[in-house]
Amino acid sequence: MKLSTIIRLGSACAVAQLSRAQSPQWGQCGGIGWNGAKTCISGNVCTVINPYYSQCLPGTQAPPPTTSSQATTPVPTTPASTSTSSPPTSTSNPGGGSSVPGTCSTPLTISGYNNAALPNPFLFDDGTPVQTQEDWACRRAQIASLIQGYEAGSLPPKPSSLSATFTQSGTTGTLAITASNDEGGSIPIPAGIAKLTYSNSDMAQQNSASSRGIGLFYNLYGSSHNASAMTAWVWGVSRIIDALESTPAANINTQKIAVTGCSRDGKGALMAGAFETRIALTIPQESGSGGDACWRLSKFEQDKGAVVQTATEIVGENDWFSASFNNYVNNLNQLPYDHHLLLAMVAPRGLISFENTDFVWLSPLSSWGCVSAARTVYQALGVPNNHGFEQVGGHQHCQWPSSLTPSLNAFFDKFLLGGSTSTSNLFSTNNVFGGVPWTSSQWINWNTPTLT
Ligand SMILES: *[C@@H]1O[C@H](CO)[C@@H](O)[C@H](O)[C@H]1NC(C)=O
Repeated sequence: MKLSTIIRLGSACAVAQLSRAQSPQWGQCGGIGWNGAKTCISGNVCTVINPYYSQCLPGTQAPPPTTSSQATTPVPTTPASTSTSSPPTSTSNPGGGSSVPGTCSTPLTISGYNNAALPNPFLFDDGTPVQTQEDWACRRAQIASLIQGYEAGSLPPKPSSLSATFTQSGTTGTLAITASNDEGGSIPIPAGIAKLTYSNSDMAQQNSASSRGIGLFYNLYGSSHNASAMTAWVWGVSRIIDALESTPAANINTQKIAVTGCSRDGKGALMAGAFETRIALTIPQESGSGGDACWRLSKFEQDKGAVVQTATEIVGENDWFSASFNNYVNNLNQLPYDHHLLLAMVAPRGLISFENTDFVWLSPLSSWGCVSAARTVYQALGVPNNHGFEQVGGHQHCQWPSSLTPSLNAFFDKFLLGGSTSTSNLFSTNNVFGGVPWTSSQWINWNTPTLT
């Protein structure tokens, strides 16, 4: 029997480089679970904001050191089979405005757009209503194009040639040239599911806002390619799936693939699940702003006094999103999408995200509001139970609270293991938003249709 698998974004291989680099102004420089730079560029002081987040703030005092340990476990390998395929460029690859179902146009940007509320999933760019499931496929393609145009950069299709090697030793396997180490902060994976650790930082570095254009992706496409780290990572996930499809020795059922990651890697996992439709189950863990939180809502949370990550901070901290996104971080109302529509791109496939109200930096209200808005698309498609969300406190950033394991296992059972466990009512929050009020009608100003 072929195994289901889960691809976990984890950047352990780049840890040594990350520790040497210095964080930019406003960048993260410490905190629990932080494996990146511990020092700031000159003229900045590494300042503890909370136990989970230290930030480079302008100033000249000696920085308080923070520590975190990193356990690495090399994966043993033995030589095995090689498989090579050279198919024509795939049209099923969901990246880019070029592979568009239906007839709607898919511009990268919409000039003059302005909307303080969350953009309506059920209106096309030109304002006409989305009425059928076929319409939704077209609308989804529009959203994919907008997210690339404004925020994520372009996502190239499969290249004309791709080769993969699978090596196995006991129950441990290595796909292609990926050196897999394990990193803290991961979800428990049930038996019967192979775990594949993807060193996404090797694909596109994420040391700081100035590490743009560095990594394996840019070795192939050139350092000035307009893919961001996010789309480069997604492209890599798609190539892993291509490789699994062309490598029977790996014994992986490519109909049963999940993707996960925590924090920055959770943002990447969501982006992968949104754009790559071969992923059956998407599990972002504490992805926050830039993940399952909405840009507009994180800004609102900040305006109400919460110390949360926002678009303006993110573009200074790292190169995750495209350079063009810098033009919009102070004009969020101009975005004709928000991350509720990134989440909605996963529909009707399985999606459960997990958030942590004790890590306020990731903007807990924003995540709740954003997933609530995204859920309307799952409802419209008649599959609300394919969308889960759990938000609790009482644990450190990227530490797994065992109380949530039953919810996680229900989604694994339904989407990876072919079981019949119910995933209904796995959509909840503890409503701990630091006193910031969530008023649904202020943000979600559309009626949810039934798409036939
Ligand atoms: C990326 O660059 C290519 C070529 O210059 C261009 O056609 C495409 O629209 C750009 N994509 C994005 C998302 O900006």
